[in-house]
Amino acid sequence: MKVLVTGGAGRVGSRVIASLLARGDQVVNLDLRENAQAGVTNVVGAFDDADAVGRAMDGVDSVLHLGALMSWVAADTPKMFAANVTGTHLLLLAARERGARKFVFASSGEVYPETRPAYMPLDESHPTRPTSPYGLTKLLGEEMVQFFARAYGMATVILRFSHTQDASELLDPASFFSGPRFYLRPRIRQQESFGNTAVVEALRPFDDGTEKHLISRGQDGAFFRMPITDTRDIAAGVIAALDSPRAIGQVMNLGTEEAIRIDDAIAILQRHTKLPAVEVTLPIPAVNYQTSRARAIEILGIRPQWTFERMVADAVAVGGK
Ligand SMILES: NC(=O)c1ccc[n+]([C@@H]2O[C@H](COP(=O)([O-])OP(=O)(O)OC[C@H]3O[C@@H](n4cnc5c(N)ncnc54)[C@H](O)[C@@H]3O)[C@@H](O)[C@H]2O)c1
Repeated sequence: MKVLVTGGAGRVGSRVIASLLARGDQVVNLDLRENAQAGVTNVVGAFDDADAVGRAMDGVDSVLHLGALMSWVAADTPKMFAANVTGTHLLLLAARERGARKFVFASSGEVYPETRPAYMPLDESHPTRPTSPYGLTKLLGEEMVQFFARAYGMATVILRFSHTQDASELLDPASFFSGPRFYLRPRIRQQESFGNTAVVEALRPFDDGTEKHLISRGQDGAFFRMPITDTRDIAAGVIAALDSPRAIGQVMNLGTEEAIRIDDAIAILQRHTKLPAVEVTLPIPAVNYQTSRARAIEILGIRPQWTFERMVADAVAVGGK
């Protein structure tokens, strides 16, 4: 089978490509960056470049549209719409023209959104009302995918990914997601870039110039709590969705069943980092949610394998602190 993987140089895409190659599939990567694994055909280009999309789609049986621009910086919104909305539309058009059999779309829990759940655990029936431009681009992507299924009979699967990380990122204060989540100084820098002055002001008194963990509480005192999924579990779900006839037409949450509290997560990290932690009550509601994975487990027939504790142990084993 010849599979087009978009975003194949990214976290999820590179794991998915490794699995496809291992079982003998032909793989094309469409990304702004190359995937260096032997055997991959790279088309280096942007999702909103129709020419690059057309070249990448040549002779492809299935599309795993895993690439996107993820940003919560206001200035990035126009280029995020070009990548995630125009790009997804061009990929769907090209997939239809070239007769690709299946189109799997990486959506996000931000379509609900997870940070303001109407009820928990969040399941696929929860209303979709994104509150970030990124979440909006993912919901628009879902709508376009559903349209191509309805109007043209395309075999599509929508996977709403959990928050997802490589295990190694958990121990890295400079990493895109874990840095600001678990470490004080990266969080201050992130919140400055978002223009969240009140949060910056709440955090800054705790910064004495040394690295520290951050235990975040919301304004009501609740600890932050959320699922943190290992990239390997998401990649396994993507492959299962590609292979499963039962997945066609489905919308499924994909990710860990565990929602870990920030104080528990920091206690696990501290066993290895030995860093001190500060506990800060932020002037915002706590991020505090849990997501149902029942549908994906039932349809795809696989369960997530990586708890937070197991991810950290693995990151240490492969060379973390
Ligand atoms: N990581 C998460 O927490 C998370 C959560 C929910 C959903 N998702 C979604 O899952 C998918 C994979 O996420 P990831 O963590 O692997 O992301 P990633 O940032 O590691 O990889 C995304 C890839 O897309 C490429 N890309 C970005 N804009 C592009 C453009 N305009 N043209 C071509 N390539 C472009 C990047 O170069 C990168 O290699 C994305 O669609 C993302 O929106 C991720």
